[in-house]
Amino acid sequence: MKHIAVLTSGGDSPGMNPAVRAVVRTALGAGCKVTGIMRGYQGLLDEDFVDMSSRSVGGIVNRGGTILKSARCKAFYEDGGVQAGAEILKRCQIDGLVVIGGDGSYRGARKLAEQHGIAVVGAPGTIDNDIYGTDFTIGFDTAATIALEAIDRIRDTATSHDRLFVVEVMGRHSGHLALAVGLAGGAEEILLPETPTDLDLICKHLDDMRQRGKTSSLIVYAEGDEFGSSIEFGKQIAARTDYNVRVSVLGYIQRGGSPTLNDRILATRLGAAAVEQLLAGKSNLAVGIVNSELATCSLQDAAESKKPVPDELVRLAANMAT
Ligand code: ADP
Ligand code: F6P
Repeated sequence: MKHIAVLTSGGDSPGMNPAVRAVVRTALGAGCKVTGIMRGYQGLLDEDFVDMSSRSVGGIVNRGGTILKSARCKAFYEDGGVQAGAEILKRCQIDGLVVIGGDGSYRGARKLAEQHGIAVVGAPGTIDNDIYGTDFTIGFDTAATIALEAIDRIRDTATSHDRLFVVEVMGRHSGHLALAVGLAGGAEEILLPETPTDLDLICKHLDDMRQRGKTSSLIVYAEGDEFGSSIEFGKQIAARTDYNVRVSVLGYIQRGGSPTLNDRILATRLGAAAVEQLLAGKSNLAVGIVNSELATCSLQDAAESKKPVPDELVRLAANMAT
């Protein structure tokens, strides 16, 4: 393996930069030429390439976002787009590709490997923590830390005004982020896409807690919950309980900012591991961390298998909310 390329794709996440840095420095250390592909698969098709040196990834270990930029690329959903990408990689004599992204990015990576024989390894970059084969994804810890800080602040004003707050956090298809910040923030209810939402039961629980002297409450609402809308949910709670209700949508602040210590270490380990897999002749797999140890699984499993929210944490959060 003489020439390795790296791209970041899909929703960005804090920690993608230290992951890129680790890919570049590990590959350079092994004597490879390293190319950075800008804007994910779109930049691949546009041949928007930059030569990477040790210096080009200097000063980014603590920076949010991704210096390679990220994008969605419609053309890559078509077989012709993937083929065009593979042909470009072959013409540019790129022997191995590291794809840092979520399950969608992994699907594109898998097609490059399986349909066109490109050596590809994925590293999990998403705040959603919804990738099978790794206990944590790059960016989750930072996003959770930011959301938790916001929740703590909201709790202060909720308490002062005896209000109930519905706080919407990201997670279109997954409740890992909501569960983590709900548990750590002492939420009275946590609404997840993975679990049914019973409005009657929630209202009864809120009423019971109010009768036991709780004057304010906080509900964490994952954006992908089956109820459909945190605003509408807040209206229903206001109509059916005695609470004075406010809704706060945290939004994209959860995707930015300097990566936490955990994310920097995770990103550095996984970026380096992805290159090491390529150097060992491996392809069509994703790297991850399982029980604190480096692990790999097929890109198919990583992209298509579900990672359920831990039941134990769901029960624990419910038991704490009394
Ligand atoms: P994420 O990687 O964060 O899940 P997306 O689902 O938006 O983000 O995927 C990122 C990009 O990966 C898409 O814009 C597309 O270019 C590519 N991609 C996603 N799904 C597929 C697929 N089934 N086949 C080929 N490419 C895909
Ligand atoms: O980064 C993952 C994610 O936060 C999802 O939870 C969310 O639904 C999505 O990104 C929104 O991102 P965009 O607006 O960039 O599609």
